[in-house]
Amino acid sequence: MRLLPAVPRPLVRRISQRYIAGDRLGDATATVRALNEQAKLATIDVLGEEITNEEETHVIARAYEEVLSEIDRRHLISNVSVKPTALGLELDYSLCRQNLRRLVGFARARDNFVRVDMEDATTTDATLGLYGELRAEGFDNLGVVLQASLKRTVADVDALEALQPNVRLCKGIYVESPKIQYRDENAVRTSFVRSLAALFDAGCYVGIATHDDVLIAHAERLVHERGLTSDKYEFQMLLGVRPELGDKLVANYHKLRIYVPFGAYWYEYSLRRLQENPSVAGYIASDTMARVLHPRRNGN
Ligand code: FDA
Repeated sequence: MRLLPAVPRPLVRRISQRYIAGDRLGDATATVRALNEQAKLATIDVLGEEITNEEETHVIARAYEEVLSEIDRRHLISNVSVKPTALGLELDYSLCRQNLRRLVGFARARDNFVRVDMEDATTTDATLGLYGELRAEGFDNLGVVLQASLKRTVADVDALEALQPNVRLCKGIYVESPKIQYRDENAVRTSFVRSLAALFDAGCYVGIATHDDVLIAHAERLVHERGLTSDKYEFQMLLGVRPELGDKLVANYHKLRIYVPFGAYWYEYSLRRLQENPSVAGYIASDTMARVLHPRRNGN
């Protein structure tokens, strides 16, 4: 996993409140309730990325079961998103598969759905492997994520086509070697549009996860050209990022799902959001923030 630079926790907390529902499950369900009242769907993420032993993976898995039970009990419109490393991918593949299988089964019993987030490129093969194995076992309430910035993604779409996967397509947040990742913004966008078109052509359901106006315009064009209805796609955005754009999508009759993170491990998640957009640190000169957040930009 990529190391994040040290930024004081109180500072990160203050700047990043908009990205996190809160520390507790009740914070997340209250946020989802408010989103549902605005005709927005949600996906809840339990923040937990500092996993070092098996017991911690079980704690996270149980936390997800609580989330799914609460969604069910409160009749919320939300599924869950889970990071494979939070379920133990870096400790032991079979432990992760066991945790994920159990979670997906728990979700299926409640008529719900689990999205496996995609982490850095060292995890891509294993994550797609887990996805393929559980689909082969008959778990259809499971979705995966593809990152358009990775050069492999168009080939991954082809390889997955037969499974008709439910895919979240995003640019990808992790900085990888230029050997495997497009760095040029236009190349990333081209890969995104190409992958999206290929996924639609394969009949897949796609979660179009972006706040980029250019990509949203391309996506709307592809949806329109193909005459796709809301059973074939949804837009997805992160809590706190460009909410006015989300309102516009909903007003234009698109389905929109908001990614709602909560939990004790808010620090690492917030840091990644700030790395993406240091200018949100309004009261600090953004160049200072950028230097703190990107100390080794070219290192890898
Ligand atoms: P881009 O970064 O160009 O942003 C477009 C515009 O949105 C910016 O100009 C800015 O105005 C605004 N913006 C973007 N980020 C902002 C921020 N943090 N604060 C304020 N404004 C901001 N990645 C991954 O590797 N694995 C995953 O599983 C997921 N999952 C995921 C789920 C969902 C629902 C979303 C929306 C995104 C992800 N991502 C992800 C993150 C994704 O890969 C990507 O890093 C971000 O969405 C930013 O890329 P955009 O496409 O929004 O474009």
